[in-house]
Amino acid sequence: PVVGVVLAGGIGQRVGLRTPKQLLKIAGKPILEHTLALFDGAPEIDEILVVMAPGHTAEAEKMVARLAKGGKVIEGGASRTESTWRALQELGERECNVLLHDAVRPLLEQRIVTECVRALETYSGVDVAIPSADTVVVAEPTPDGEIIREIPDRAFLRRGQTPQCFRLSAIREAYQRAFADPEFLLHPPTDDCGVMLRYLPDVPIAIVPGSEHNMKVTHPLDVYLADKLFQLGSAGAPAASPEALRAGLDGKTVVVFGGS
Ligand code: CTP
Repeated sequence: PVVGVVLAGGIGQRVGLRTPKQLLKIAGKPILEHTLALFDGAPEIDEILVVMAPGHTAEAEKMVARLAKGGKVIEGGASRTESTWRALQELGERECNVLLHDAVRPLLEQRIVTECVRALETYSGVDVAIPSADTVVVAEPTPDGEIIREIPDRAFLRRGQTPQCFRLSAIREAYQRAFADPEFLLHPPTDDCGVMLRYLPDVPIAIVPGSEHNMKVTHPLDVYLADKLFQLGSAGAPAASPEALRAGLDGKTVVVFGGS
């Protein structure tokens, strides 16, 4: 079986409102509800587990009660890593695959879920990533700011998204080793593939192509962008395809700012 874990344990400090960002409404519904609907509709996902911000579990439970698949809600931990760890402990020793997905990526496409589950037939770990449009520089702090230490070759750089998918036994093993390491919580990786890579370095993690739509609502601007993308979406597709977006732009007056 495949368990879809929705990580919604954060408070959304960078969006900076009193409501956790996963409960903000876009296109008329809370972000978390959009994400849950995707998992509910994905034929590959058998069960749903939501890791919710403490103090907000009742809201999540109401949403889960309306899903065809139902699901369970547990409280999250102090960091994303601790929230994942709680989900893994909840799942225990059973044999299954897990998809760990950020609640704040409500524009995930079904195509990605299908490819991830297929990749798990061969790999114990699967990440979703897209090429980086920006050049990425490695910064080094100096007494008065920062300087560039390195510019890695962009051809090899990818931006990690979610879901991150694992055979439960493999990610459990990685997390057990991580939480046995006193250094771990001092410098935790920012995602679950980072935990696997650090603590089970010999296990290859496959990369499934993600998509620009599968954005993470992180800053206030992203709330507007995600809302707009939902408006552009049509029945059966969570958001407009690049072709539809191009067609919408074609023939439009493009206003060029700057110059005089
Ligand atoms: N998350 C979680 N438990 C935490 C922290 C984060 O389950 N203790 C989840 C978030 O709810 C989100 C996902 O991990 O769906 C991605 O994290 P991020 O965008 O960093 O969310 P927040 O921690 O809420 O944001 P911020 O860092 O701005 O506070």
